[in-house]
Amino acid sequence: MNYYVMTLFPEMIEQGMHTSITGRAIEKGLLSLKTINIRDYSVTGNGRIDDYPYGGGAGMVMQAEPVYRAYESLVCQAEQKALRLIYLTPQGRVFDQSMAQEFACEENLAFLCGHYEGVDERVLEAIVTDYVSIGDYVLTGGELPAMVMMDAISRMVPGVLSNSDSGVSESFSDGLLEYPQYSRPEIWRGCQVPPVLLSGHHGNVDRWRHEQSLLRTLRNRPDLLEHMQLDKADRKFLRKLLEAGADSGLSEKEVSVLQNILENS
Ligand code: ADE
Repeated sequence: MNYYVMTLFPEMIEQGMHTSITGRAIEKGLLSLKTINIRDYSVTGNGRIDDYPYGGGAGMVMQAEPVYRAYESLVCQAEQKALRLIYLTPQGRVFDQSMAQEFACEENLAFLCGHYEGVDERVLEAIVTDYVSIGDYVLTGGELPAMVMMDAISRMVPGVLSNSDSGVSESFSDGLLEYPQYSRPEIWRGCQVPPVLLSGHHGNVDRWRHEQSLLRTLRNRPDLLEHMQLDKADRKFLRKLLEAGADSGLSEKEVSVLQNILENS
């Protein structure tokens, strides 16, 4: 996977991406990263790349020409004309795991990080293929969202994670949140590791983990469960929870969500 990032803060992207797992993957040649400093393409020669918005209003707008020139240089470097170019904006489609998987199939991915009050619409219309948001809140620029996306996408690139399974066996990959994990010691400050995990019975461990995933998803993200295809064993487990009522530790609200899910599945 080759990443190209157009930004006013290349050092922020370089530092973030050359750290930890993505840093190692870059060293190994599994990922590559090129940052393009939009300021280097200033048309005024003094590094200025923004101007006042037509029609008035607060803030400054990134001008079309420096962004377009940065893009031309990027296309040259990527040697690919039909390049997927992601503009990070709170107005975009909200990023999720399935988008990460989809983007991970590309050979090259380019990102445009905006600042100030935005980027001149004309250049966005000319070059952007995907408008993506990382959530319903407003950040000061697109650098952190671009890094969030690259991190999530990189995990899906074969070889980036040391255990090739870990990319697919975690939260969201099967539509459920991840089950709880435990490590040594067996008893920590009086808290015991769930005995099933010490039993050595792989079938029981798998079943327990799956049930814990169902329970966590019900508690924290019932919306995910509502859209899932539940199998017979899942429904049986959830029905048992419902029958246990208050003894299962579920709140009234969780019980009513569960009733809904079981009625509709
Ligand atoms: N730029 C500013 N806020 C953003 C967000 N939430 N997602 C993507 N890009 C952004």
